[in-house]
Amino acid sequence: FKVPDIANEPMVTYAPGSPERKALVEAIREMEQQLPFEVPCVVNGKPVKTGKLAKQPMPWDHANHLCTYHEADEATVAAAIDGALAAKADWETLPWSDRAAIFLKAADLVSGKYRYKILAATMLGQGKNAWQAEIDAAAELADFLRFGVKYVEDLYSIQPPRNTPGSWNRTEYRALEGFVFAVSPFNFTAIGGNLVATPAIVGNVSVWKPSPAATYANYLVFKAFEEAGVPAGVIQFIPGPPVEVCAQVIAHPSFAALHFTGSTFVFKQLWKNVAANIDTYKSYPRLVGETGGKNFHLIHKSAEVKNAVMQTVRGAFEYQGQKCSALSRVYIASSLWNGGFKEQLLTEVAKLKVGPPQDFTNFIGPVIGRPAFDKITSYIQKAKDAGGEILIGGSGDDSKGYYVQPTVILTKDPRSVTMVEEIFGPVLTIYAYEDDDFDKTLELVDSTSQYGLTGAIFASERKALVHATNKLRNAAGNVYYNEKCTGAVVGQQPFGGARASGTNDKAGSMAIFYRFVSARSIKENF
Ligand code: ALA
Repeated sequence: FKVPDIANEPMVTYAPGSPERKALVEAIREMEQQLPFEVPCVVNGKPVKTGKLAKQPMPWDHANHLCTYHEADEATVAAAIDGALAAKADWETLPWSDRAAIFLKAADLVSGKYRYKILAATMLGQGKNAWQAEIDAAAELADFLRFGVKYVEDLYSIQPPRNTPGSWNRTEYRALEGFVFAVSPFNFTAIGGNLVATPAIVGNVSVWKPSPAATYANYLVFKAFEEAGVPAGVIQFIPGPPVEVCAQVIAHPSFAALHFTGSTFVFKQLWKNVAANIDTYKSYPRLVGETGGKNFHLIHKSAEVKNAVMQTVRGAFEYQGQKCSALSRVYIASSLWNGGFKEQLLTEVAKLKVGPPQDFTNFIGPVIGRPAFDKITSYIQKAKDAGGEILIGGSGDDSKGYYVQPTVILTKDPRSVTMVEEIFGPVLTIYAYEDDDFDKTLELVDSTSQYGLTGAIFASERKALVHATNKLRNAAGNVYYNEKCTGAVVGQQPFGGARASGTNDKAGSMAIFYRFVSARSIKENF
């Protein structure tokens, strides 16, 4: 058995008049006619309606909601864990080729039959425009699944290089003993799918708590996995109140791993929960987390201005700056800032149309919810209070949806609050440094990088790129030369960072699969 050749899922552009545009528009229309949907928990393949109802509001129209979902209560969480543990023996002993086939089929379903539906749910529920939904819920999700299968084939083939005559050494990559707890974010539908698929491909079972703000799109992903043949119980879908569900799951003696994407604060809380329960567990749990970022563009005096401007606009404002990789701070050589960059940047930002995601001409949609809107607008106020100059934007309108104008702030203080703290919204702060202070600026970038997720360096002088990369050794797990700091592609740029950004286990690479296996060495004499 050999995994078939795989490639990245081709992305659809949804050009006006194209059949794909028509199909997506139709899927959105149908969804709008049917909402709100009702989403149950799913335990052992059966819907569980707890009657404890919560809503997933639509961020562009917060008076209405995309779905009502049944929150998992204590009994449902307990049943989900028991059921997952019961499903484990059959799943982990299923021939690996069958697990591979199921997830290759799941990739075809999410990029085929389910594509427009999952995209529509991601647009209406999470406020992504069509293109942002496409790169997430169709392309990245399918890539995670297909490349995941390929990486596991590679992993299983890694065997000890030597045998003494008359003996044979083997390494077996077993699933973890116990179950995996997946806690997924609102900002990428694909991440939810990946957080459960990655452990499952190597034979683990999981309970999955999706973000309340991405419930419906993640439920559709779950349905596609079910249709692909993931057996009942292998992935348990339990939306629910985050604090209670997390506390209950982490306190279980068979808790074997946390697969998390979300905020630094929550990851640390969960880590503390795990520490508090450490004597309960059979094995040391694996804690795998991708958390926040304060991502930068560092623009050297030799950079090509037009490209740096365009990349900066996209890095900062695509999906309203709500990617963990989103650009949030720029350090630019003064000669470029004053030599055309500023005007070009403001011209481009002024062109960004703000409005609901299902209007294909809008670049900027709403931010995800009330707390996000309040937090982002309060940061704009803090920047003003600290003497920052708002060059464009600076206001918000939450009357119908949670809209924040794309905002550019110029600061003279490179340690001011919006240069160092994560905002997670369409707010970009710029600091212009003296051209000759490049080295000093490198120190500044590093010393203010509490996070270490992504960064981009713009320079046409190779020497500057190399020097900056060496000096900023730990400030970013994903570094881009002359390109925006967002948009890692599965199979091309393994994604993740260290410091406060996570455990840097690299989603979209083979490395992450090691975290979900427990290896066993077998020596046999002939
Ligand atoms: N992997 C996503 C990106 O790189 C978050 O933008």
